[in-house]
Amino acid sequence: MALDRNATVAVLGAGTMGSGIAQVAATAGHQVLLADTFAGAVERARAAHEKAFAREVEKGRLDAASAAATLGRIRYLTPGPGDFLELASAQLVVEAIVEDLEVKKATFKRLEHALEPTAVLATNTSSLSVTAIGAACDRAERVVGIHFFNPAPVLPLVEIVPGVATAPEVTAAARALIDAWGKTTVVASDTPGFIVNRIARPFYSEALRIFEEGIADKATIDWAIRDAGGFKMGPFELMDLIGNDINYAVSLSVFEAFGYDPRYRPFLTQKKLVEAGLLGRKTGRGHFDYRAGAVNPEPVRSNDLAVEIFPRVLAVLVNAAVDALFWRVATRDDIDLAMTKGVNYPKGLLRWADDIGPGQILERLDQLHAEYGEDRYRASPLLRRVVREGRTFY
Ligand SMILES: NC(=O)c1ccc[n+]([C@@H]2O[C@H](COP(=O)([O-])OP(=O)(O)OC[C@H]3O[C@@H](n4cnc5c(N)ncnc54)[C@H](O)[C@@H]3O)[C@@H](O)[C@H]2O)c1
Repeated sequence: MALDRNATVAVLGAGTMGSGIAQVAATAGHQVLLADTFAGAVERARAAHEKAFAREVEKGRLDAASAAATLGRIRYLTPGPGDFLELASAQLVVEAIVEDLEVKKATFKRLEHALEPTAVLATNTSSLSVTAIGAACDRAERVVGIHFFNPAPVLPLVEIVPGVATAPEVTAAARALIDAWGKTTVVASDTPGFIVNRIARPFYSEALRIFEEGIADKATIDWAIRDAGGFKMGPFELMDLIGNDINYAVSLSVFEAFGYDPRYRPFLTQKKLVEAGLLGRKTGRGHFDYRAGAVNPEPVRSNDLAVEIFPRVLAVLVNAAVDALFWRVATRDDIDLAMTKGVNYPKGLLRWADDIGPGQILERLDQLHAEYGEDRYRASPLLRRVVREGRTFY
């Protein structure tokens, strides 16, 4: 299957993700068709691309002629809803439209009829089932998940997600192409949240839990995770950056997709912020206040608190990573790679478990489980097995 640099790549949806993906594909040398039913979105994407390439030239990372040539490879289109005639020459379509299963299914159904039978149809969905989207098509074997992270031109990780019916050669071709774009790919099974959005849930939720219990305030929890844990950002400042509405929606969708397993239950603090419109940096306020002149609380820099907070968050995170391995969501190496390249964790969680000792993580989880009696702290059977057998993950 020819998915090389000569392939025309169509990107459907010119919002945050589509615009970034189009930029990455054009930079890799492809002719790109960027289409959105909303003309305003296409114009915004064009302006964002012009600015991004001008910055590359300014910083000396690209010469003006190459920047112009790259921009020249992107065609901006505003087709009517479901009108994909202009995308007919694409060998790969990456869909990045609204996160709505029915809309995506209707779109894929029409897309496959507009394209060559050999074209690959990819979805950038964060939380929907790739299998369900593919099932809308006659050729479900050509549908695959290609999940970029935001901002797509900056973050190296891409999760490749085959659905139940996806042909292995389609998965392999998608992976090879995205590798050729200079990205780091991992393969994830088509399960809720794939790798990163599944395993990263407790980074936010355990912090919310510690806050709701009154153990520490938000600034202190962020400080402990940055300082004791070596994370670049604390969970509260990161939620404010991502947007509390988006983060809360992902929490809800993962919770629902896991059949309301209490392990994934979202927290009221986040729901309240969303109800109040305090969405984070984009609205000027969230967990913290970003308005001019605002004064935010200083963390309580206490060693006792750091020792109470960080190992607890890490134990729950490691448990999520081990459980993903247990359920064969991805390989050990891909799980660790995904968290370091997709969300900048200082270390892969399985490697981290080995460094600390899986027994210590299990002990901490069992303590929390005994104290609260909640499924949230239920240790993965694999963690228990590894400890029982005196093994490590690597
Ligand atoms: N934002 C993120 O952090 C992120 C990260 C990874 C994946 N995703 C996924 O990427 C997809 C897009 O997310 P986004 O944040 O870029 O959304 P967005 O709202 O910024 O952009 C979506 C764009 O799709 C267009 N659109 C909607 N319906 C359309 C249709 N039927 N045909 C053509 N265009 C249509 C809209 O006009 C809009 O410009 C979603 O599936 C989302 O889950 C988002």
